[in-house]
Amino acid sequence: MGLLDGKVAIVTGGGRGLGRSHALLLAEEGASVVVNDLGGEWDGSGADTRAASEVAAEITAAGGKAVANFDDVADWEGGQRMINQAIDAFGGLDALVCNAGFVRDRTVFNMTEGEWDSVVRVHMKGHFVPTRWATAYWRERFKETNEPVNARIVYTASEAGLYGNAGQANYSAAKAGIASMAIVVAREMEKYGVTCNTLNPRARTRMTINTFGADRLTGKEGEFDYNDPDNVSPLVAFLCSDAAADITGQTFVAGGDTVAWMQGWTRANRVKKDKDRWTPSELVAAKAELFGDKSTRPPRFG
Ligand code: NAI
Repeated sequence: MGLLDGKVAIVTGGGRGLGRSHALLLAEEGASVVVNDLGGEWDGSGADTRAASEVAAEITAAGGKAVANFDDVADWEGGQRMINQAIDAFGGLDALVCNAGFVRDRTVFNMTEGEWDSVVRVHMKGHFVPTRWATAYWRERFKETNEPVNARIVYTASEAGLYGNAGQANYSAAKAGIASMAIVVAREMEKYGVTCNTLNPRARTRMTINTFGADRLTGKEGEFDYNDPDNVSPLVAFLCSDAAADITGQTFVAGGDTVAWMQGWTRANRVKKDKDRWTPSELVAAKAELFGDKSTRPPRFG
Protein backbone atom coordinates (compact mmCIF):
# COMPACT_ATOMS: atom_id res chain seq x y z
CA MET A 1 0.00 0.00 0.00
CA GLY A 2 1.40 3.37 -1.02
CA LEU A 3 0.50 6.71 0.56
CA LEU A 4 -0.80 7.92 -2.82
CA ASP A 5 -2.43 4.79 -4.27
CA GLY A 6 -4.98 5.68 -6.94
CA LYS A 7 -4.02 9.38 -7.08
CA VAL A 8 -3.03 11.28 -10.22
CA ALA A 9 -0.28 13.90 -9.96
CA ILE A 10 1.48 16.36 -12.23
CA VAL A 11 5.06 17.38 -11.48
CA THR A 12 6.31 20.36 -13.49
CA GLY A 13 10.01 20.39 -14.24
CA GLY A 14 9.93 16.68 -13.38
CA GLY A 15 12.72 15.75 -15.77
CA ARG A 16 15.64 16.77 -13.59
CA GLY A 17 16.81 17.63 -10.09
CA LEU A 18 14.13 18.04 -7.45
CA GLY A 19 11.23 17.50 -9.86
CA ARG A 20 12.65 14.15 -10.94
CA SER A 21 12.97 13.06 -7.29
CA HIS A 22 9.38 14.16 -6.60
CA ALA A 23 8.02 12.33 -9.67
CA LEU A 24 9.84 9.09 -8.80
CA LEU A 25 8.70 9.13 -5.16
CA LEU A 26 5.08 10.04 -5.93
CA ALA A 27 5.00 7.11 -8.39
CA GLU A 28 6.64 4.81 -5.84
CA GLU A 29 3.89 5.80 -3.39
CA GLY A 30 1.27 4.71 -5.93
CA ALA A 31 0.42 7.88 -7.88
CA SER A 32 0.11 7.99 -11.67
CA VAL A 33 2.35 10.85 -12.73
CA VAL A 34 2.42 13.33 -15.59
CA VAL A 35 6.10 14.24 -15.81
CA ASN A 36 6.27 17.71 -17.34
CA ASP A 37 9.55 19.18 -18.53
CA LEU A 38 10.49 21.57 -21.31
CA GLY A 39 13.99 20.14 -21.06
CA GLY A 40 16.00 23.28 -21.75
CA GLU A 41 19.41 24.43 -20.53
CA TRP A 42 20.11 25.55 -16.95
CA ASP A 43 19.25 29.16 -17.91
CA GLY A 44 15.94 28.19 -19.52
CA SER A 45 17.12 28.40 -23.12
CA GLY A 46 16.29 25.61 -25.57
CA ALA A 47 14.00 22.59 -25.28
CA ASP A 48 14.52 18.81 -25.26
CA THR A 49 11.97 16.01 -24.84
CA ARG A 50 14.50 13.61 -23.31
CA ALA A 51 14.37 14.89 -19.72
CA ALA A 52 10.63 14.23 -19.21
CA SER A 53 10.63 11.09 -21.39
CA GLU A 54 13.48 9.47 -19.46
CA VAL A 55 11.85 10.01 -16.06
CA ALA A 56 8.48 8.74 -17.33
CA ALA A 57 10.27 5.68 -18.74
CA GLU A 58 12.12 5.14 -15.45
CA ILE A 59 8.80 5.13 -13.57
CA THR A 60 7.18 2.76 -16.06
CA ALA A 61 10.19 0.43 -15.97
CA ALA A 62 9.86 0.23 -12.17
CA GLY A 63 6.22 -0.84 -12.54
CA GLY A 64 4.63 2.58 -12.01
CA LYS A 65 2.39 4.69 -14.23
CA ALA A 66 3.66 7.84 -15.96
CA VAL A 67 3.39 9.87 -19.13
CA ALA A 68 5.68 12.64 -20.33
CA ASN A 69 4.60 16.19 -21.14
CA PHE A 70 6.87 18.72 -22.85
CA ASP A 71 4.92 21.95 -22.45
CA ASP A 72 6.32 25.24 -21.22
CA VAL A 73 4.73 25.73 -17.76
CA ALA A 74 4.14 29.42 -18.35
CA ASP A 75 2.35 28.93 -21.68
CA TRP A 76 -1.42 29.51 -21.39
CA GLU A 77 -2.50 26.70 -23.74
CA GLY A 78 0.41 24.50 -22.60
CA GLY A 79 -0.83 24.65 -19.00
CA GLN A 80 -4.30 23.59 -20.10
CA ARG A 81 -2.90 20.74 -22.21
CA MET A 82 -0.96 19.47 -19.19
CA ILE A 83 -4.09 19.26 -17.01
CA ASN A 84 -6.08 17.67 -19.87
CA GLN A 85 -3.33 15.12 -20.41
CA ALA A 86 -3.63 13.95 -16.79
CA ILE A 87 -7.40 13.61 -17.17
CA ASP A 88 -7.14 11.82 -20.56
CA ALA A 89 -4.33 9.47 -19.50
CA PHE A 90 -5.38 8.68 -15.93
CA GLY A 91 -9.01 9.80 -15.54
CA GLY A 92 -8.58 12.83 -13.29
CA LEU A 93 -6.20 14.98 -11.29
CA ASP A 94 -5.53 14.92 -7.53
CA ALA A 95 -2.25 16.79 -7.10
CA LEU A 96 -0.34 19.51 -8.91
CA VAL A 97 3.30 19.97 -7.91
CA CYS A 98 4.70 23.20 -9.42
CA ASN A 99 8.48 22.98 -9.46
CA ALA A 100 9.85 24.02 -12.89
CA GLY A 101 12.13 27.01 -13.15
CA PHE A 102 15.56 28.45 -13.81
CA VAL A 103 17.79 31.32 -12.68
CA ARG A 104 19.51 34.19 -14.50
CA ASP A 105 21.37 35.94 -11.69
CA ARG A 106 22.66 39.52 -11.92
CA THR A 107 23.02 42.46 -9.55
CA VAL A 108 20.02 44.76 -9.76
CA PHE A 109 21.90 47.60 -11.50
CA ASN A 110 23.16 45.27 -14.26
CA MET A 111 20.08 43.10 -14.78
CA THR A 112 18.62 43.18 -18.29
CA GLU A 113 14.93 43.35 -19.12
CA GLY A 114 15.17 39.84 -20.59
CA GLU A 115 16.73 38.41 -17.41
CA TRP A 116 13.97 39.96 -15.33
CA ASP A 117 11.08 38.96 -17.61
CA SER A 118 12.16 35.37 -18.28
CA VAL A 119 12.78 34.46 -14.62
CA VAL A 120 9.63 36.14 -13.31
CA ARG A 121 7.68 34.49 -16.14
CA VAL A 122 8.86 30.91 -15.61
CA HIS A 123 8.40 30.94 -11.85
CA MET A 124 5.42 33.19 -11.18
CA LYS A 125 3.39 32.69 -14.34
CA GLY A 126 4.67 29.12 -14.46
CA HIS A 127 2.97 28.51 -11.11
CA PHE A 128 -0.14 30.52 -11.96
CA VAL A 129 -1.00 28.98 -15.36
CA PRO A 130 -1.20 25.29 -14.33
CA THR A 131 -2.99 26.40 -11.14
CA ARG A 132 -5.51 28.33 -13.23
CA TRP A 133 -6.50 25.25 -15.24
CA ALA A 134 -6.27 22.74 -12.38
CA THR A 135 -8.45 24.84 -10.07
CA ALA A 136 -11.02 25.41 -12.84
CA TYR A 137 -11.17 21.63 -13.33
CA TRP A 138 -11.59 20.99 -9.58
CA ARG A 139 -14.29 23.66 -9.27
CA GLU A 140 -16.25 21.94 -12.07
CA ARG A 141 -15.94 18.58 -10.28
CA PHE A 142 -17.16 20.24 -7.06
CA LYS A 143 -20.17 21.73 -8.86
CA GLU A 144 -21.07 18.32 -10.32
CA THR A 145 -20.91 16.42 -7.04
CA ASN A 146 -21.28 19.10 -4.36
CA GLU A 147 -18.49 17.27 -2.53
CA PRO A 148 -15.01 18.62 -1.67
CA VAL A 149 -12.59 17.30 -4.29
CA ASN A 150 -9.75 16.44 -1.86
CA ALA A 151 -7.00 17.78 -4.13
CA ARG A 152 -3.55 19.25 -3.51
CA ILE A 153 -1.25 21.92 -4.88
CA VAL A 154 2.39 22.15 -3.81
CA TYR A 155 4.36 25.25 -4.83
CA THR A 156 8.12 25.64 -4.94
CA ALA A 157 9.51 28.91 -3.64
CA SER A 158 12.99 29.49 -2.26
CA GLU A 159 14.65 30.91 0.81
CA ALA A 160 15.97 33.48 -1.66
CA GLY A 161 12.35 34.68 -1.80
CA LEU A 162 11.65 34.43 1.93
CA TYR A 163 14.79 36.34 2.96
CA GLY A 164 15.89 38.11 -0.25
CA ASN A 165 19.16 37.05 -1.88
CA ALA A 166 21.67 39.57 -3.25
CA GLY A 167 22.14 39.00 -6.99
CA GLN A 168 18.69 37.47 -7.48
CA ALA A 169 16.19 40.36 -7.63
CA ASN A 170 14.20 38.62 -10.40
CA TYR A 171 14.24 35.16 -8.78
CA SER A 172 13.69 36.35 -5.19
CA ALA A 173 10.77 38.58 -6.21
CA ALA A 174 9.15 35.74 -8.18
CA LYS A 175 9.64 33.24 -5.35
CA ALA A 176 8.24 35.62 -2.71
CA GLY A 177 5.28 36.14 -5.07
CA ILE A 178 4.77 32.39 -5.28
CA ALA A 179 4.79 32.02 -1.47
CA SER A 180 2.18 34.78 -1.28
CA MET A 181 0.07 33.38 -4.15
CA ALA A 182 -0.09 30.02 -2.33
CA ILE A 183 -1.88 31.71 0.57
CA VAL A 184 -4.38 33.31 -1.84
CA VAL A 185 -5.01 29.98 -3.60
CA ALA A 186 -5.37 28.24 -0.22
CA ARG A 187 -8.02 30.76 0.83
CA GLU A 188 -9.91 30.70 -2.50
CA MET A 189 -9.92 26.91 -2.84
CA GLU A 190 -10.65 25.91 0.77
CA LYS A 191 -14.37 25.46 0.19
CA TYR A 192 -13.69 23.17 -2.78
CA GLY A 193 -11.41 20.90 -0.73
CA VAL A 194 -8.15 21.93 -2.42
CA THR A 195 -5.07 22.67 -0.31
CA CYS A 196 -2.10 24.77 -1.43
CA ASN A 197 1.24 24.80 0.40
CA THR A 198 4.74 26.05 -0.36
CA LEU A 199 8.00 24.17 -0.25
CA ASN A 200 11.37 25.92 -0.04
CA PRO A 201 13.89 23.22 -0.91
CA ARG A 202 17.62 22.82 -0.33
CA ALA A 203 19.39 20.38 -2.66
CA ARG A 204 22.29 19.70 -5.00
CA THR A 205 20.91 20.07 -8.54
CA ARG A 206 22.04 21.57 -11.82
CA MET A 207 20.72 24.92 -10.57
CA THR A 208 22.67 25.02 -7.31
CA ILE A 209 25.80 23.33 -8.70
CA ASN A 210 25.89 26.13 -11.24
CA THR A 211 25.59 28.77 -8.49
CA PHE A 212 27.63 27.32 -5.61
CA GLY A 213 29.78 24.61 -7.24
CA ALA A 214 29.51 20.84 -6.79
CA ASP A 215 32.27 20.70 -4.15
CA ARG A 216 30.37 22.79 -1.62
CA LEU A 217 27.28 20.63 -2.06
CA THR A 218 28.85 17.17 -2.04
CA GLY A 219 29.41 15.47 1.32
CA LYS A 220 31.97 12.88 2.36
CA GLU A 221 31.71 9.33 1.03
CA GLY A 222 29.79 7.05 3.41
CA GLU A 223 28.16 9.91 5.37
CA PHE A 224 24.56 11.09 5.11
CA ASP A 225 24.20 13.09 1.88
CA TYR A 226 22.57 16.30 3.14
CA ASN A 227 22.12 17.80 -0.32
CA ASP A 228 20.57 14.80 -2.10
CA PRO A 229 17.36 16.08 -3.76
CA ASP A 230 15.66 12.82 -2.71
CA ASN A 231 15.68 14.19 0.87
CA VAL A 232 13.12 16.86 -0.11
CA SER A 233 10.52 14.70 -1.88
CA PRO A 234 9.00 12.93 1.18
CA LEU A 235 7.50 16.26 2.28
CA VAL A 236 5.92 16.64 -1.18
CA ALA A 237 4.44 13.12 -0.97
CA PHE A 238 3.09 13.88 2.52
CA LEU A 239 1.54 17.19 1.40
CA CYS A 240 -0.11 15.40 -1.57
CA SER A 241 -1.60 12.69 0.65
CA ASP A 242 -4.94 12.40 2.46
CA ALA A 243 -3.02 12.84 5.74
CA ALA A 244 -2.39 16.50 4.80
CA ALA A 245 -6.02 17.39 3.99
CA ASP A 246 -6.09 19.86 6.91
CA ILE A 247 -2.82 21.66 6.04
CA THR A 248 -3.18 24.63 3.71
CA GLY A 249 -1.59 28.02 3.15
CA GLN A 250 1.55 26.82 4.96
CA THR A 251 5.23 27.24 4.09
CA PHE A 252 8.04 24.76 4.68
CA VAL A 253 11.80 24.58 4.27
CA ALA A 254 13.03 21.05 3.55
CA GLY A 255 16.47 19.60 2.96
CA GLY A 256 18.89 17.11 4.46
CA ASP A 257 17.46 15.61 7.64
CA THR A 258 15.14 18.55 8.42
CA VAL A 259 11.62 19.74 7.64
CA ALA A 260 10.94 23.22 9.03
CA TRP A 261 7.52 24.86 9.29
CA MET A 262 7.92 28.59 8.57
CA GLN A 263 5.86 31.62 9.52
CA GLY A 264 6.57 35.15 8.31
CA TRP A 265 5.51 38.75 8.44
CA THR A 266 4.57 38.85 12.07
CA ARG A 267 4.50 42.33 13.64
CA ALA A 268 7.85 43.10 15.25
CA ASN A 269 6.64 46.15 17.17
CA ARG A 270 4.44 49.22 16.65
CA VAL A 271 3.98 52.80 17.76
CA LYS A 272 0.45 54.12 17.87
CA LYS A 273 -1.14 57.52 18.39
CA ASP A 274 -4.65 58.02 19.66
CA LYS A 275 -6.81 58.64 16.53
CA ASP A 276 -4.27 61.00 15.00
CA ARG A 277 -1.78 60.95 12.11
CA TRP A 278 1.98 60.78 12.70
CA THR A 279 4.18 63.63 11.47
CA PRO A 280 7.64 62.89 10.02
CA SER A 281 9.41 64.57 12.94
CA GLU A 282 7.31 62.63 15.46
CA LEU A 283 8.45 59.42 13.69
CA VAL A 284 12.05 60.57 14.06
CA ALA A 285 11.41 61.04 17.79
CA ALA A 286 9.64 57.63 18.02
CA LYS A 287 12.43 55.79 16.19
CA ALA A 288 14.04 54.38 19.34
CA GLU A 289 10.66 53.27 20.69
CA LEU A 290 9.74 51.49 17.42
CA PHE A 291 13.02 49.67 16.82
CA GLY A 292 14.47 49.41 20.36
CA ASP A 293 17.82 47.62 20.18
CA LYS A 294 16.68 45.22 17.41
CA SER A 295 18.51 44.94 14.06
CA THR A 296 17.26 47.24 11.29
CA ARG A 297 19.28 45.47 8.57
CA PRO A 298 17.95 42.81 6.12
CA PRO A 299 16.91 39.53 7.81
CA ARG A 300 19.43 36.71 8.21
CA PHE A 301 18.81 33.45 6.34
CA GLY A 302 17.21 31.09 8.84
P1 NAI B 1 16.94 21.91 -12.20
O1 NAI B 1 17.49 22.84 -13.19
O2 NAI B 1 17.68 20.65 -11.91
O3 NAI B 1 15.46 21.48 -12.59
C1 NAI B 1 14.50 22.40 -13.06
C2 NAI B 1 13.71 21.72 -14.17
O4 NAI B 1 12.71 22.64 -14.65
C3 NAI B 1 14.59 21.37 -15.38
O5 NAI B 1 14.46 19.99 -15.71
C4 NAI B 1 14.08 22.29 -16.48
O6 NAI B 1 14.16 21.71 -17.79
C5 NAI B 1 12.64 22.52 -16.06
N1 NAI B 1 12.09 23.74 -16.67
C6 NAI B 1 12.67 24.96 -16.76
N2 NAI B 1 11.86 25.81 -17.39
C7 NAI B 1 10.73 25.12 -17.71
C8 NAI B 1 9.52 25.48 -18.36
N3 NAI B 1 9.31 26.71 -18.83
N4 NAI B 1 8.56 24.53 -18.49
C9 NAI B 1 8.76 23.26 -18.04
N5 NAI B 1 9.89 22.87 -17.43
C10 NAI B 1 10.86 23.79 -17.26
O7 NAI B 1 16.75 22.74 -10.82
P2 NAI B 1 16.17 22.33 -9.39
O8 NAI B 1 17.11 22.78 -8.38
O9 NAI B 1 15.71 20.93 -9.38
O10 NAI B 1 14.92 23.32 -9.30
C11 NAI B 1 13.59 22.91 -9.04
C12 NAI B 1 12.83 24.02 -8.34
O11 NAI B 1 13.34 24.17 -7.01
C13 NAI B 1 12.95 25.39 -9.01
O12 NAI B 1 11.72 26.06 -8.93
C14 NAI B 1 13.98 26.08 -8.14
O13 NAI B 1 13.88 27.47 -8.23
C15 NAI B 1 13.62 25.54 -6.79
N6 NAI B 1 14.67 25.67 -5.78
C16 NAI B 1 15.77 24.85 -5.80
C17 NAI B 1 16.70 24.92 -4.79
C18 NAI B 1 17.83 23.98 -4.71
O14 NAI B 1 18.53 23.98 -3.67
N7 NAI B 1 18.09 23.17 -5.72
C19 NAI B 1 16.61 25.95 -3.73
C20 NAI B 1 15.43 26.74 -3.79
C21 NAI B 1 14.51 26.59 -4.78
